[in-house]
Amino acid sequence: MAIPEEVINEIKYRNDIETVISQYSVLKRRGKNLVGLCPFHSEKTPSFTVYPENGSFYCFGCGVGGDVITFTGLIENLDYVESIKLLAERSNIQLPQDGYDNSFQKVKNTVYDINRETARFFHNYLMSDEGKWALEYYQKRGLSLKTIKHFGLGAAPDSWDALINHLKSKGFTISDMVTANVVGVSQRGSYYDRFRKRAMFPIINIRGNIVGFSGRAMPGDDKQGGKYVNTADTPVYKKSENLFGINYAKNFCSEQMILVEGNMDVISLHQAGFENVVAPLGTAFTTEQANLIARYTKEIVLMLDADAAGQKAIRRAEEILRNTGLTVRVVSIPNGKDPDEYIKTQGPERFKALLEGAVSNMEYKLLMAAQGLDLTNDDGRLKYLNISAEIIAATDDVMERDIYIGRLCDKYGVSRTAFTAKVDEFRKKNIRAVKKAEINDVIHPKFSKDDVNPERRNSVKGTAAEETVISILWQHPDFYGEIKETLTPDKMVTSLNRRIYEIMCEALSESRALDISLFAQKLLPAEVGHLVILQNADKGGNVPKTVLKDCVKVILEEKERLNTQNSAEASVEDWAAQLQSIIDKKK
Ligand code: UTP
Ligand code: MN
Repeated sequence: MAIPEEVINEIKYRNDIETVISQYSVLKRRGKNLVGLCPFHSEKTPSFTVYPENGSFYCFGCGVGGDVITFTGLIENLDYVESIKLLAERSNIQLPQDGYDNSFQKVKNTVYDINRETARFFHNYLMSDEGKWALEYYQKRGLSLKTIKHFGLGAAPDSWDALINHLKSKGFTISDMVTANVVGVSQRGSYYDRFRKRAMFPIINIRGNIVGFSGRAMPGDDKQGGKYVNTADTPVYKKSENLFGINYAKNFCSEQMILVEGNMDVISLHQAGFENVVAPLGTAFTTEQANLIARYTKEIVLMLDADAAGQKAIRRAEEILRNTGLTVRVVSIPNGKDPDEYIKTQGPERFKALLEGAVSNMEYKLLMAAQGLDLTNDDGRLKYLNISAEIIAATDDVMERDIYIGRLCDKYGVSRTAFTAKVDEFRKKNIRAVKKAEINDVIHPKFSKDDVNPERRNSVKGTAAEETVISILWQHPDFYGEIKETLTPDKMVTSLNRRIYEIMCEALSESRALDISLFAQKLLPAEVGHLVILQNADKGGNVPKTVLKDCVKVILEEKERLNTQNSAEASVEDWAAQLQSIIDKKK
């Protein structure tokens, strides 16, 4: 930790969490804590909790948490050091001019610098004589020079070392280039440009920094590595948390945001005047992305491709997005086109009409259910009404159910009583299923759904024990001596809890106090949230020391079990990877 603890403590002392958060959310007292509506996602019932006792917060809706510094970072879009600077300024605390030596921040800055220089290199190449092929490609796809500049588009030359040489000439080291993932290392240990002969799209985060690249192969090339090659995760980029176009969209989306599948869709729509558009980059849609969207807008319109994969993606994204409290609408683009093709062939006016016709999610599902059924005969209609009843039954909103029941009864001439009875039948079934799932959750807590710690499913028991250890140590740091020899960090079964425990051990072995700020720089917001929960949980009961020791035993056993299991499974993974590479080559 580079910024001295005394300084952080003073900043926290002078910026008390209750006062700071009250500027963004109305907080009401509940017992010794405070609750309010979460400023990071839209919700109707308060699930955002502030714990003044230890200066932390946690949202039970979206899972973010932390202390006053992480809060400031999230709400003002600042990184950790920037948030400290802001809070210091607000409370008239003097920080040294040249800042503190912070090694992780330094690595991040270097990666940002490399990315910026790389984007410049790709852009200049695009604009040079040698880059004409790429400029022609962009123009063929209908992009204006203005759009190309606006998005900082470029092209990678057909070379294995042009970028390496350029970055070398600018003074960057090869290992930093590898860290930034613009350069790869071959099995024999030689270095090469990762992007070759591709149209290059910089990926820009919400703060306007270039965090990575997406490179598209030219049509007709053998697409070694796939149609698109994207930057892998780096110290500044986690693809599951970024959205292409968010740097622009965040300023134009107070009412509505549009989610499309690809970066070309974002760019085309932008050029046509729709600036509130984002796309995930080569991943399935994630909760982190949904939370990011929910922080900026009220309504999300899903505009995904009409193919089967697109439909599946819609269902997944819809569920995740609805959990954040956003209104979700769906547009299906006629004739299986993607938004990029549609706007080019049909123009912005028709696109706008399409957007205005965005149907509610229920309408969309009812529409999709009719596909493949012949509604001109009784048999088909009956099938359709059955499926529809099930779809309508899925909503808890009684008014919404009533509206759609009415519509379908009018349209297909069935009695309201009969159709309502059918819907109720499905509802009873659903309620039973939900109950069952709830009971299951108690028996196997969070068995399959834990987005913060996905490794939980490998060992539910081990993970629970780890969490108890973290929680007890937080309340009783003096117990550390009892377990430090037996439970070394490498024994932890999940990597998230291992990272947390490592930081705890480091602080405790130097007899320093535990504080959320020790973790905030090294964990993601949802991971800090997970930690806040553990910090505030009373897991030890009356005999914390005994519980602690029992938990250590469980962790060690589970670690042993997983180790034997892993050696058997590793070969299966190898095999799957080999198979995938054979499939890729055949394509
Ligand atoms: P599509 O194959 O639908 O591409 O993939 P697209 O957006 O229509 O691209 P163009 O119009 O052919 O240029 C949708 C998105 O999935 C990701 C990319 O982000 C792409 O924009 N993707 C696709 C990859 O990451 N890798 C791939 O190999 C293919
Ligand atoms: Mn396309």
